[in-house]
Amino acid sequence: MTFTGKAFRLTHRLDSSIKIAHLVFDLEGEKVNKFNRLVMSEFADLLVELKKESAEIDVLLLTSGKKGNFIAGADITLIQSAKTAQEATELARAGQKLIDLWEDLPFPRVVAIDGTCMGGGCELSLASTAILMSKSSQARIGLPETLLGIIPGMGGCVRMPWKIGIAQSLELILAGKTLTGEKACKAGLADALLEKEDFEGNALSWIKKEIGRLRSGARIGREPKLGGIGGVAGSLMENTWVGRKVIFKKAREGVLAKTKGKYPAVLEAIDVIESVGTGYRKILEGAERDAALIREAEGFGRVAATEVSKNLIQLFFMTEAIKKSNGVSTVAAADAADRKLQSAGVVGAGVMGGGIAQLFADKGIAVEMKDIAQPALELGIASALSLFQKSLKKRAITKRQFDQKLNLITPTLSYVGFRKAELVVEAVIEKMDVKKSVLAELEKHVSDQAVIASNTSSLSISEMQTALVRPDRFVGMHFFNPVHRMPLVEVIRGSQSSDGSIITTYQACKQLGKMPVVVKDSPGFLVNRLLMPYLAEAATLLMSGVGMDRIDSVLLDFGMPMGPIELIDEVGLDVGEKVAGILKAAFGDRMLAPDAFGKLIEKKWLGKKTGRGFYVYEGSKKVKSLDPEIYSVLGISMRSEPMEASEILDRCILGMVNEASRCLEEKVIAGPADLDLAMIMGTGFPPFRGGLARYADARGLSAIVERLEELSKTVGPRFAPAPSLVAYAKSGSGFYGAT
Ligand SMILES: NC(=O)c1ccc[n+]([C@@H]2O[C@H](COP(=O)([O-])OP(=O)(O)OC[C@H]3O[C@@H](n4cnc5c(N)ncnc54)[C@H](O)[C@@H]3O)[C@@H](O)[C@H]2O)c1
Repeated sequence: MTFTGKAFRLTHRLDSSIKIAHLVFDLEGEKVNKFNRLVMSEFADLLVELKKESAEIDVLLLTSGKKGNFIAGADITLIQSAKTAQEATELARAGQKLIDLWEDLPFPRVVAIDGTCMGGGCELSLASTAILMSKSSQARIGLPETLLGIIPGMGGCVRMPWKIGIAQSLELILAGKTLTGEKACKAGLADALLEKEDFEGNALSWIKKEIGRLRSGARIGREPKLGGIGGVAGSLMENTWVGRKVIFKKAREGVLAKTKGKYPAVLEAIDVIESVGTGYRKILEGAERDAALIREAEGFGRVAATEVSKNLIQLFFMTEAIKKSNGVSTVAAADAADRKLQSAGVVGAGVMGGGIAQLFADKGIAVEMKDIAQPALELGIASALSLFQKSLKKRAITKRQFDQKLNLITPTLSYVGFRKAELVVEAVIEKMDVKKSVLAELEKHVSDQAVIASNTSSLSISEMQTALVRPDRFVGMHFFNPVHRMPLVEVIRGSQSSDGSIITTYQACKQLGKMPVVVKDSPGFLVNRLLMPYLAEAATLLMSGVGMDRIDSVLLDFGMPMGPIELIDEVGLDVGEKVAGILKAAFGDRMLAPDAFGKLIEKKWLGKKTGRGFYVYEGSKKVKSLDPEIYSVLGISMRSEPMEASEILDRCILGMVNEASRCLEEKVIAGPADLDLAMIMGTGFPPFRGGLARYADARGLSAIVERLEELSKTVGPRFAPAPSLVAYAKSGSGFYGAT
């Protein structure tokens, strides 16, 4: 039998008397293979036919027709569109039945993976007799469902443990981790690692060699490290009632410590794996398999219907949209999308310049790093060196890569190597006159095609443009500190920036592994402008006698990665004061930070960088016990009654919501989705809440307007709801619905 459908092609070949049916998954009109309704129906029909042909098939080989992708998983829009838990459960059951059909074929099934194999793709692989992977770095396998707030629902929770044991399965599933071929083999998930060159030929040769074991169903891959430790002790852990209890208890504790119970899918995954009683080599069949899969599908339905999962899926689509966009249009010009930077420059080798140069080098881009002071260059190189050393220690890079990356940074006191740079980022001190003179000088030393960007966090891009002969080539490129860790970059369009410069900068961000959002050139851009009322209010609460640990813990409970008072320490009180001054000048008292901070700045208690701010630090660690001196230095008398958590929360968060509505109205950012992405990536706003705008929509804008009116009467006029927020509320459809 041969077959050519919209998703699959089937051919037969006779190889050394072995009858191999070769199935190629190649979904028409798509870049990646995924299980959508069409694929599921075509695949199910094909599997029924293949079963009838079993006399003609010794082995079935599945490969992909897509470059760099084996199977991306289930079509996420299907999951997103499931409105109720029951609908989502039914969806999972349909997927599971398909995988069962595959597993029940009466001949060995081999999957040969030379690209990404995620979610449903991995679950299909788990129901196969053998998993082959290529040595290509693009070949990766895993179950990332929990990152979308769901659990593997096509048998992954049930079959992963029988292949690699419970402890390793939990590690993979709970973190949504994916493995390269080499690591998958080591874990016992993949059965063989084959050369990428002529991968299909290698897979066929492997099948011929292993036909005996394939037929007998004997395990081919490595033994997994049971219990996370391996050996007899590990085996005892996984195969005894007490041992298992310990494994699941530890998993729950670990998850709760990390997520504080805000992400239900990870807990559900543990419950499912524990309750279905699966384990290493414990292949479930018949009614036992059905019962286990039904339990998994119910768990899937439960979490897929939560707001958390909807928010995380939305976030996934937002990041996907960035991949397709070029910052100017979502239909990216092909030439710009494919153009990769080879050479860059950085001016200013301080905290930010050093970090940006390190990032360029890390991504294989040669970078000239200029400063006016030799010690600054030495510091810049030292901080890059320390980051590369960490990667080397973690074995994320080899010694050779370490040398190569480090060699890509050229520290210099002159502009001599800048002619070849395609993008130069200015990161000198935050003073307009200094920046203008540096930019005017720099422009004389770059090529006509070069784009120049400033990393300023608060100065006007449009004003800096006046220093340049060609202002069109100039944009803002606002990285956050620390550069290697913070995913967001605000790409700022000045009044004269050209589309081409925006596109180059936007694409460069993606090449650097960052998440760009385009924002208008206005004071504080987006993220700092939204953060200011939040931080200022936290400081005001502190001055009114609310303990700073209390304020921080309320916001940590809300899901922020760090409390606002600690965040001020992290940013530095001096930096914060400067930005606050600029924002207050632009927007008035709603950005007002308490004056009393001057006392801390005078004492050089600037935050983490000086070892003392509101909190006390030893190295980079916060010292746990509070320093009561801070209250007397600031002249604070503590409240006798503790303030309600909801009061603290509303005062900190709703000021941000109010400001967000102004930013949307002023078109500082394209829309609520970009705003949410920027807040999640730039401030760590809890992803499970879907972002600031989505949080506000979920609470209801009318309720928020009412609460702001109340706060404006009881606390101060800074809370008066913005006319744009009132208008959004009146429209009745929220930020998302109203745009
Ligand atoms: N530190 C942050 O958290 C942060 C975050 C985002 C953006 N920024 C912005 O990044 C820029 C740099 O900030 P930073 O914190 O790295 O400052 P920094 O003081 O650590 O570094 C500034 C560097 O610029 C050098 N420099 C000064 N004049 C120069 C000139 N004419 N030519 C070449 N080099 C010169 C200095 O020697 C110094 O090494 C500022 O615009 C700042 O607003 C800072």
